[in-house]
Amino acid sequence: MSLKQQVLQLLENGRGQALSGQQLADALGVSRASVWKTVKGLQSEGYQIVATTNKGYILQESNDILSEQSLRACLLPKYAGIDVVALKTSTSTNAEAMTRLMGGNLKHGTLIVADEQTHGRGRMGKTFFSPKKGIYMSVSLCKSVENMQDVMVITPAAAVAVQRSVAKLTGIDVKIKWVNDIYIGKKKLCGILTQADIDFESGKAGTFIVGIGINFVEQNFPDDIKDRASALFEGQPTVTRSQLIAEIYDNLMTLTDNLSDREFMKEYKEHSIVLGKEISYAINCEEKRGKVIDIDNDGGLVIQEGDKTRKLTCGEISIRSAENEWI
Ligand code: BTN
Repeated sequence: MSLKQQVLQLLENGRGQALSGQQLADALGVSRASVWKTVKGLQSEGYQIVATTNKGYILQESNDILSEQSLRACLLPKYAGIDVVALKTSTSTNAEAMTRLMGGNLKHGTLIVADEQTHGRGRMGKTFFSPKKGIYMSVSLCKSVENMQDVMVITPAAAVAVQRSVAKLTGIDVKIKWVNDIYIGKKKLCGILTQADIDFESGKAGTFIVGIGINFVEQNFPDDIKDRASALFEGQPTVTRSQLIAEIYDNLMTLTDNLSDREFMKEYKEHSIVLGKEISYAINCEEKRGKVIDIDNDGGLVIQEGDKTRKLTCGEISIRSAENEWI
């Protein structure tokens, strides 16, 4: 680790508290002058570090620059051994994870985040609007695929992880739109894209890359999504992105550690905005309508269509709202 990274890690660990130049110098075995120079460098990169003559250096609570150090300071100690990659910019954190996987360089539980994505990927070949100051995170999960039904619920588990984390850290009650979108009211806050690399030869193991994108602060959304997209915070955020990412990470790892325990599907259903609603969807390019009567334990949507019931396991749906709009 460079001196800059070490100073930053200590400041991140003690965020909001004063650390004297002498304390930092002693902890790192360097001179106070080197600490001072390093802090100056961090400040010039935009870190909000207040330097006071009496107390020392304080990394401000509101500082929200994503870094490996800010993430490690928020992750639980049990995750100290994971690989954390924080990028200023990435084409796509899922693509970054895939590249590492192909190069044999992706461990279970690796966390890759970026401040912005230039080619954010959405489901069904769509793009995901990914300007600066958002949350774009990918987590790799190496799983046994002997029970395919279990791996099919990785995405619903990720949706519950986001819902739980947002509720815990912000008090905001977000809803889940089947299968993997998170909504505030009638607007989309977050999308989830899970990509898999499965070795069908062995039929035993696969790597799953769970990509989560959250509109963290208000953005100039492009025309095509501006009426349908929302952000978590309109004014000053009350949590940092690192805090929220670390909380989501913990929930995701905990839930996906034991996928065969479908307890989380109860939470998924409790926060669903589709249960009991009239929806429209397409089967073989033909538009259909029906009412959602259940979501089964494997994440399938059970739809009443006249006197028949049908199960949808993937696809896109629109929901008819109480005001008769389609969301
Ligand atoms: C969707 O809404 O269709 C899914 C969007 C998923 C976006 C996330 S952001 C992090 C990860 N990297 C990507 O390129 N996509 C996912």
